Parts: sequence; C-alpha cells; structure tokens
Amino acid sequence: MAESTKSAKLSIDGKEYELPIFAPTAGPDVVDIRKLYAQAGVFTYDPGFTSTASCDSTITYIDGDKGELLHRGYPIDQLAGNSHYLEVCYLLLYGELPTPAELEDFECRVTNHTMLHEQMMNFFRGFRRDAHPMAVMTGVVGAMSAFYHDSTDIADPWQREVASIRLIAKMPTIAAMAYKYTIGQPFVYPRNDLDYASNFLRMCFAVPAEDYEVNPILSRAMDRIFTLHADHEQNASTSTVRLASSSGANPFACIAAGIACLWGPAHGGANQACLEMLNEIGTVDRIPEFIARAKDKNDPFRLMGFGHRVYKNFDPRAKVMKQSADEVLDLLGVENNPILQVAKELEAAALADPYFAEKKLFPNVDFYSGIILEAMGFPTSMFTPIFALSRTVGWISQWKEMIADPQNKIGRPRQLYLGSTARNYVDIENR
Ligand code: ACO
Repeated sequence: MAESTKSAKLSIDGKEYELPIFAPTAGPDVVDIRKLYAQAGVFTYDPGFTSTASCDSTITYIDGDKGELLHRGYPIDQLAGNSHYLEVCYLLLYGELPTPAELEDFECRVTNHTMLHEQMMNFFRGFRRDAHPMAVMTGVVGAMSAFYHDSTDIADPWQREVASIRLIAKMPTIAAMAYKYTIGQPFVYPRNDLDYASNFLRMCFAVPAEDYEVNPILSRAMDRIFTLHADHEQNASTSTVRLASSSGANPFACIAAGIACLWGPAHGGANQACLEMLNEIGTVDRIPEFIARAKDKNDPFRLMGFGHRVYKNFDPRAKVMKQSADEVLDLLGVENNPILQVAKELEAAALADPYFAEKKLFPNVDFYSGIILEAMGFPTSMFTPIFALSRTVGWISQWKEMIADPQNKIGRPRQLYLGSTARNYVDIENR
C-alpha cells in the first residue's frame, strides 16, 4: 500500500475530518475514505465508480487524456509491435518480461494444459445449437469448478497458479468448441506444435475432412488482437471478477462472472454491435444519417466502437487495430471492402464533427477489431468470445494480485437509500 504524503480536510456540520491522500506512481492522487463512515457516519456516493479507486494495483495503467495504456509500465504499442500474447501474459501475471528460459517454461506449461476434460464435452452438447457462444462459454467455464477440484483452493498459492495456467490454456479450446458446436461441426482438439494464436485459428476452422493451413499473417493478427485485449485495469468485467472473488469464490466461478459481464454491448459486446452497425449503414452515403441519429438525444442509437469511460483521447489500441485491419484485408485481397470504407469514412466524419469533439468521443479498440475478425472468417457472434479469451489473463492477473493482498476483504458497497422508511405490514384484504 502507498504511503500517505498529504491529507484533505472534509467539513461536515462544522466538524472537520482529515482524510489521508495517497500519491500513486502515475495518475491522480487518491483520497482515502476508508475510515470516513466510522469517524463521520456518512457514506460517499459514486454510482458507476467514476471517481472511486476500488483497489491498489501494479498491473495496468491508463492515462485517458493522453491515450496511454501501460502494462507493468510497458506501452501497449511497443508490446503489440514487438512482443506476442504469451509473453504479455507472463508480464501481466508475474510483473516482469520473461528471460528466454522463463518464457519457454511458461509456454510449455500453457501448451500442456490446452485439452479439456473429456467429460466436459457433454456440457456443450446440453446447449441448443443456436445458443450464443458467450452463453456456452459462461456455462462451460463455470462448470470447470466441477472438473478441476485440485485447483479451487484459493488459499493455496500453488493451486492458484495451476488454475491460472489452466484457464489461459483452455479458454481458446472452450471458445473454439463453443463455435464448432453452434455451427454443427465436430470439435477440433488442440495441437501442441502450434503457437497459441495458430492453434486457436485451427481449432475454429479445421474440419476432420480438411486441415486448416494457418497463414502466419493471420496468426500474427490474431495474436495482436489477443494482446490488445489482454488487460485494461479496473473495467466492468475485471471489477466483477474482483468482487466475485472477494467472497472467496473459486477462480473458475469468478472468471465465469467476468465473462457474463463482458457480454454486454456497452463492454465486450461492442465489437459485435459495431460490425452490425457498419453493416446496417452499408454504404458511405448513409453515414450522415447515422451521425445525426447518434447526436439526437431522443434516439437511443449510439455510434458503437466510439467513446470510452476512461479514454478521452484516441484509444491507443484502436491505432494498432486500424493498422492490423489494413494488413489483413490487404493480405486477403479485400482492401476495397465496402465495410472498411464505411468504417474509415465514419471515423473521419465523426472526428470532424463538433459533437464528438466536445464530448471527447474517439474510436475505441472495438471499432476495427470486428472488421479483422470478419475478414478472417469469424461470425459476429464469435467477436465477444475472442475478447473473453484474450481478457482471461487480465482477469486472472488482477484476481491473483487481489488474493495475495493481505488487505483483501469482501467487497460490499453501500447505498443512498431513497425508499420508504419502516412501515407496518397491511393484510391483503385491507389494501
Ligand atoms: N455515440 C454517441 N454519443 C455518445 C457515445 C456514442 N458512442 N458515447 C457517449 N456518448 C455521449 C452520451 O450520449 C453522453 O452525452 P450527454 O453528456 O449529452 O448525455 C456523453 O457522450 C457521455 O456518455 P456516457 O454514456 O455518460 O459516458 P460513459 O463514460 O458512461 O460511457 C461508453 C462510455 C459506455 C463506452 C459509451 O461511450 C458507449 O456507449 N459507447 C458505445 C459502446 C462501445 O463502443 N463500447 C465499448 C467500450 S470499450 C470496451 O469495452 C472494450
């Protein structure tokens, strides 16, 4: 925990309270209100946690005004450009970039856990064929707690480590199987001679009748999508994982909670919603109509893939994603893809519009990711599962940090109660 260097004074009904202030290594100072209720008998009010730090963390830092994202201090563009997903996983989990021997050992541990317990296949078969893969993933990941009993004791650091590796290793297998199930194809088992991204692509696109040759450019683009989504500090799904695990729940149950939260269109579901929006717009001449709708207070429509709770400048991940979209579409010979044209012109039109400038609304990571994933052959329903598998390492890293913290206590927000005060029950015949 940081040392308090200065303090703030709060005056309530003429009585003064001194609140310690912590100086972070980067970012705004944090006022410590932990003893406020005990001392002053008041709560603070902050729905949506817009001004509240829920924990201290050393994993990820975002400067939303600068458009900066750091993992353990390393900028995301450097990681996306020079590193690869499993190395970033190691960095997030253990705090430092690995040596070659450490990386080899880590990759070996992950690779050796990619298979699922065979009995788990029955879980997939219990779902309707038209189930959304996120529904299947939420259920199957939750069910892991019924299969891997030897890694559910969160008080044991070794079991926490095993659960972490299992989740990172098995999530691509689960996501690919959820996809295969919904399209009625047989499951494709993982292959340990392939890298993490290539293995995932093959599990999604190979069939017993014909293997899938993994194109290195597509596998690199897939790996970059994983890397760009790996962690994002205390976002809604990560906070869900932390809150769920604060009760002592097992890691598989907590990650299933994170997946459920990620599914929403304001969070991980935005990439699916964004591509659906681009398809609905269809042609560049319809852009003004949709920009007008996004600005209309009486229309619930929002430009999906635009805006972010923290970034009030360009999302640094969106820049890398845009570049990746160009590379992938070029490789696949679809550089004149009409949806890419709509995306580029929509972005330009929104950035030139005072409404979006004033509200500091910029493209986020999801604006271009859907275009890449569609070009690779994924249906829109797979976009959020791919986000979930990428974010698993972030959830796990934050979970491990929290469990290892001696200050960890159950999360229990308070409320501003505006309901009835105590009143007597009225019998049904007298109402
Ligand atoms: N299109 C049009 N207007 C928008 C948009 C948008 N995409 N996003 C925000 N606004 C407007 C709001 O209407 C609001 O206007 P007002 O002040 O006149 O009422 C103002 O900008 C602030 O918006 P809030 O919703 O209060 O901002 P908040 O920080 O709570 O929301 C969010 C952030 C949910 C991401 C929002 O920008 C949004 O809905 N974007 C579209 C969905 C999306 O792309 N989500 C992905 C997020 S990134 C991720 O999860 C990986």
